[in-house]
Amino acid sequence: MPNLGVLISGRGSNMTSIHQRIQSNELNATIAVVISNKASATGLAYARDQGIPVQVFEPSEFETNDDYESALVACLVAHKVDLVVLAGYMKLVGDPMLTAFAGRMVNIHPSLLPSFKGLNAQQQALDYGVKVSGCTAHYVVKEMDAGPIIMQAAVAVQDDDTVESLSDRILFQEHQIYFLAIQIALTHLD
Ligand code: GAR
Repeated sequence: MPNLGVLISGRGSNMTSIHQRIQSNELNATIAVVISNKASATGLAYARDQGIPVQVFEPSEFETNDDYESALVACLVAHKVDLVVLAGYMKLVGDPMLTAFAGRMVNIHPSLLPSFKGLNAQQQALDYGVKVSGCTAHYVVKEMDAGPIIMQAAVAVQDDDTVESLSDRILFQEHQIYFLAIQIALTHLD
């Protein structure tokens, strides 16, 4: 059974959704560890309740970002992680992680990449006035939100959408595609 290492920074609804897809046998994997860069991440409570090993590494506790990432890598390796799953992990990934998990790290982003990279993608879509947005599951490379795309889902933007209403509909689609993209990434591991 392949091991996932899930990285979160906040509410962790994608992490929860992936765990539930595993519980219902829709995804053949185990969440070996959930790691957060914030002790305040509310998603940690779900992981703890479910008995999933949880680790918090706050970047401010380390001298350099490389030291921080090396601790992440050591933790992921110790938990025998095959695929790193970024799930609302709101921090750029640097060289230690990219080297250790080249081709073994995926992310979900709330836009149809390559449009609206970076923060507040849903607000960017509303500001631009696009009529279709969505979400993208992709491999992680050095450039932000730029790796090979595994799967996307489109969401119609409505005239009366707020950032909350659009984000909710995109999030619903994130929960529909991310576990499928993870399954695809797992089948392509050497
Ligand atoms: C999700 O919408 C995810 O796509 C987005 O943060 C949210 C996390 O929600 N990620 C990014 O914007 C990364 N650039 P969650 O914590 O409930 O999964």
